[in-house]
Amino acid sequence: MPQQQQKETQQNIRVVSGIRPTGDLHLGNYFGAIQNFLYLQEKHTCFFFIADWHALTTHPRPAELGYATQRTLQLYLACGLDPQKATIYIQSHVPEIAELYLYLNMIAYLGELERCPTFKEKVRLQPDNVNAGLLTYPVLMAADILIHRAQYVPVGKDQLPHLELARDYARRFNHLYETDLFPEPQPYTFQGEPIKVPGLDGSPKMSKTGSSEKGVIFLTDPPEVIRQKVKRAVTDSGPQYPGQPMSEPVQNLFTLLELVSSPETVNYFREQYQSCKIRYAELKHQLAEDIIRLLTPIQERLKELEANPKQLQAIAYEGATRARTSARETLQRVREAIQIGLKGETPPPVPEPLTL
Ligand code: TYM
Repeated sequence: MPQQQQKETQQNIRVVSGIRPTGDLHLGNYFGAIQNFLYLQEKHTCFFFIADWHALTTHPRPAELGYATQRTLQLYLACGLDPQKATIYIQSHVPEIAELYLYLNMIAYLGELERCPTFKEKVRLQPDNVNAGLLTYPVLMAADILIHRAQYVPVGKDQLPHLELARDYARRFNHLYETDLFPEPQPYTFQGEPIKVPGLDGSPKMSKTGSSEKGVIFLTDPPEVIRQKVKRAVTDSGPQYPGQPMSEPVQNLFTLLELVSSPETVNYFREQYQSCKIRYAELKHQLAEDIIRLLTPIQERLKELEANPKQLQAIAYEGATRARTSARETLQRVREAIQIGLKGETPPPVPEPLTL
């Protein structure tokens, strides 16, 4: 295929992903999601959003939600998401998603939603707040993806069950309404397989809910805090014989090292471990400094963005306008496929997107 044509084909591939605004983003979000966003925005038609409707399932206080939404947008930009290259928007600015969510709810079944591992986990974590939004969380997520007829969805490993449901709904919709409107969205990561970034406290997944605050490195943590957290990371008493398999907490530290450090550094510490010479304090020092090296430029850009809230509003407005144009096109075709409403009707006028 000629180069120009190849480039256009690449650009036609649509990508969607989002992050819930639940506080500052952490290294799990960075390596599971954002790093892939940065890679994909260079090649494809990308839609990256802030999933504020999803955040409502855990009942955040309004002031917290408002702050976290703004913060997440700032962090997207500070990490290098570029509104010239990708459409960056806030989910609740695109009401078309809610309408598609309604249609998809008609083809989503109770049993499969109840079996979803993330639903079971939430029931365990918040037994007093098992709301319907929590149950249909994957349906809303499918609507986010299908509203732009996305082919790729860059996410961490924890989101794979949701993506599987999104594929089921795409297939079911196409079958029921005899259309080929929706492609089946695939998980995407340039590392090959979707990853799970572990916590520093020995937990298998770095997360605000799963691990303690000490186990999580936020993108906004100052260098001193990072050094403290890494210093206190869980390890063991060290290998007793050459080639001893690693305990989970030590394996976790190596997983983090592989993400932030050079291959030479990783090899050096692996050899030290294999030959029982490893000093965990040295490994932790290196790990902390490499994390700081990664986060320093992000934190510097964040400071500039904090000083310019007007710019943020303009970006959100522009993103919502572009996202709605794409969403309305899909929704029009959805309505036609279902034959809902009156044939040939004029769509209602587009209201202004809300401001932050
Ligand atoms: P959320 O907000 O929990 O996480 C955002 C992204 O970060 C990834 N992630 C991780 N990846 C690797 N290791 C970790 N420790 C780690 N922690 C978080 C998540 O896999 C995710 O990619 N349901 C989604 C948000 C969403 C969405 C969507 C995503 C709503 N609609 C449509 C994609 C497409 C969520 O709660 O992610």
